[in-house]
Amino acid sequence: MSRRAAPLPLPDSTRRRWFRQRLLTWYRQNGRSLPWRETSDPYHILVSEVMLQQTQVDRVLPKYHEWLDRYPSFEALSQADEAEVIRTWYPLGYNIRPRRLHAIARETVARFDGTLPDDEETLLSFKGIGQYTVGAVRSFAFGKRAAILDTNVARVLFRVFVGRGDPSSHAMKQHLWALSWAVLPHRHVFDFNQALMDFGATLCSARKPLCEACPLSRKCRSYPLTTPATRRRTRRETRS
Ligand code: ADE
Repeated sequence: MSRRAAPLPLPDSTRRRWFRQRLLTWYRQNGRSLPWRETSDPYHILVSEVMLQQTQVDRVLPKYHEWLDRYPSFEALSQADEAEVIRTWYPLGYNIRPRRLHAIARETVARFDGTLPDDEETLLSFKGIGQYTVGAVRSFAFGKRAAILDTNVARVLFRVFVGRGDPSSHAMKQHLWALSWAVLPHRHVFDFNQALMDFGATLCSARKPLCEACPLSRKCRSYPLTTPATRRRTRRETRS
């Protein structure tokens, strides 16, 4: 007899509030200052998000500025030649991304007079804009209450609220999306989503989470990720 697993519970309002407050406080003290955090221009936000999809912040930064100098708007990008656009993207890699960005610019100009729409359904109709990018663009450019889930955010939510199970399963992904919506505040959505990403990229990183410095450790379902035993073992191993 097969039995369906019970759905995973979502945190109650006290825990959601605790998480938001701690994360936002951490972000205000430790968040990185990045150029796409100083703007809500939809084109700038989209360019940064597409660049950051497979590339680290340090490598994106110079290219982001160069790109905006050369193609300052959807209109300017739409008029550029595709081969030149791909050359400008170099050395970020994955040529599919500049091609898609170029196609999005052309479609935005052709269908929407150069103004990116803000509703979920229309954004999802663009090739190259998936659920994550929709959430990022809607929350960062349009101030909408929209959840995000990329690998950094998924890791943070999984570690803090779940702690066990297969983080890559389809059911878990659905649960992590539900968690991202559940913890999302009604105000400060821009900062909150940026904070989630920054927290995952820095303090709660995949390989070296800094649990000892973490403001969420007290109620984290995965704490401590580095136990005294593993730390001791690592020290012994590195000495020999
Ligand atoms: N990765 C994806 N989006 C990002 C953002 N807005 N800031 C930092 N890293 C990111």
